[in-house]
Amino acid sequence: MTERFTQYIPHENAMCAFGKQLINAICRLPSRQNVTLYLNGDLGAGKTTLSRGMIQGLGYSGNVKSPTYTLVEEYAIGEKIIYHFDLYRLADPEELEFMGIRDYFADNTICLIEWAEKGADLLSPPDLLVNIGYAENARNIELVAQSTMGQQIIQQLT
Ligand SMILES: Nc1ncnc2c1ncn2[C@@H]1O[C@H](COP(=O)(O)OP(=O)(O)O)[C@@H](O)[C@H]1O
Ligand SMILES: [Mg+2]
Repeated sequence: MTERFTQYIPHENAMCAFGKQLINAICRLPSRQNVTLYLNGDLGAGKTTLSRGMIQGLGYSGNVKSPTYTLVEEYAIGEKIIYHFDLYRLADPEELEFMGIRDYFADNTICLIEWAEKGADLLSPPDLLVNIGYAENARNIELVAQSTMGQQIIQQLT
């Protein structure tokens, strides 16, 4: 089964378009189980831009803000809820306990997590790692499956 997928992203619009493809692939899965993606990459790599593409790709037409200060933003679209986390400013992983972090990983939710390493082991393990690397103005995206569901998402993209 496919474990890895790479894509060259020449510009910002292509990142949004890839986000739409990715959310469509996730929504085509028959499972209603939570899907968790860890978005990895330096500041400015495009983690939030990809998230915006996914959220708007699912049909949300409002503004998608970076959750830098709120830690998480919620987008309910049809039967799905996307939780977009940015844990960059998380001072102590225990804050996640106070937020009731486990409840975010329920059925019909999709968790997109920037700076997941700050959450230590309080987060659900990822189905997919999304690694974004700089190539001047372009980016390279690598998806690495970490579960059977992650493999199925990659299969939908190929
Ligand atoms: N190919 C590309 N893909 C995504 N973003 C790009 C690309 N080229 C330039 N950019 C710019 O890089 C920045 C990415 O910012 P952002 O998505 O907030 O990054 P992060 O969340 O990883 O810190 C945006 O200003 C965007 O316009
Ligand atoms: Mg960001």
